[in-house]
Amino acid sequence: MRIGILTGGGDCPGLNSVIRAVVRKSHLEGFETIGIKNGWKGLIEGDSEVLDLRSVSGILPKGGTILGTSRTNPYKKPEDLQKLKDNYKNLGFSALIVVGGEDTLGVAAQLFKEGLNVVGVPKTIDNDLSGTDYTFGFDTAINIATECIDRLHTTAESHNRIMVVEVMGRKAGWIATEAGIAGGADIILIPEIPIDIEEVCNLINKRHKRGKNFSIVVVAEGAEFKQGTKLIEILQESKLDEFGHVRLGGIGDCLAKEIEKRTGFETRVSVLGHIQRGGTPTAFDRILGTRFGVKAVELVKDKKFGQMVSLQGNKIASVSIEVAVKALKTVDMDLYEIAKVFFG
Ligand code: F6P
Repeated sequence: MRIGILTGGGDCPGLNSVIRAVVRKSHLEGFETIGIKNGWKGLIEGDSEVLDLRSVSGILPKGGTILGTSRTNPYKKPEDLQKLKDNYKNLGFSALIVVGGEDTLGVAAQLFKEGLNVVGVPKTIDNDLSGTDYTFGFDTAINIATECIDRLHTTAESHNRIMVVEVMGRKAGWIATEAGIAGGADIILIPEIPIDIEEVCNLINKRHKRGKNFSIVVVAEGAEFKQGTKLIEILQESKLDEFGHVRLGGIGDCLAKEIEKRTGFETRVSVLGHIQRGGTPTAFDRILGTRFGVKAVELVKDKKFGQMVSLQGNKIASVSIEVAVKALKTVDMDLYEIAKVFFG
């Protein structure tokens, strides 16, 4: 049996753990693994390589993906979709393991409906995929963000400043909430709850009145101000990617200006950006990626196509890819309530 594997969308730490696990488990089962380069782009172009034990040796601690990735959407052009299907056939695949987030797996769900044997593996630092308690990459991202918040604490305190920390996460505030709790943030702002700038400033003022002369405000890149908020500076419009998502960013800057203007406290902003996605994965992400990779090959072996591997509690299970990509998994409000205990 010949299994293809591709990694699509934004890279994240732990992708190589999945690739290694797929190759190693396939080898044990007597299956051949073919790596597709650069996500769906590589399947459209027929860009692939044989993955053997040597190809995956030493890659476990490496960030990124040895296969490369892209945000290519094969449903954008009918001719691309046809090329992709032809290549799937010509490469002689019995199945294709697709490692990706909402967009990449959305394509996989569609291709499954059109007759391709696909199995999904949930990847994203944003942790916003339904059907799984965690995606790999998230744990590394929150560890990096937490370390950054720790570092920002000492400089904020020395200078008596407000420090606004902008983190990633798209339209879900998981990174902000969890890194914010772990880093002891004084306020955490997420896309799930529109920002009430007056409340933010009241919290900061209250904190300063009780003798604290610095504050850490963590804001998720996708957070928005409450409707009707009068801002000094309007957020800039950004370009769309092939899946129609706006390139986010800029909220931190805007928020910092508002806070400084309204409270009079000196404020700085730190945008963590792609630092959150780079470098070596945590042990948790290496283990989760490994478990996902092994399970993905088992699903292929059992011909359970159209399924995505998932973490449920501490067990590895599977769910339909279609269900997993239907709705975004937003922040658990019970968790956010815990974060709020420490605000101000
Ligand atoms: O989905 C992962 C993610 O890192 C988001 O948190 C972020 O909005 C986006 O990707 C950034 O994308 P790019 O790498 O294309 O700038």
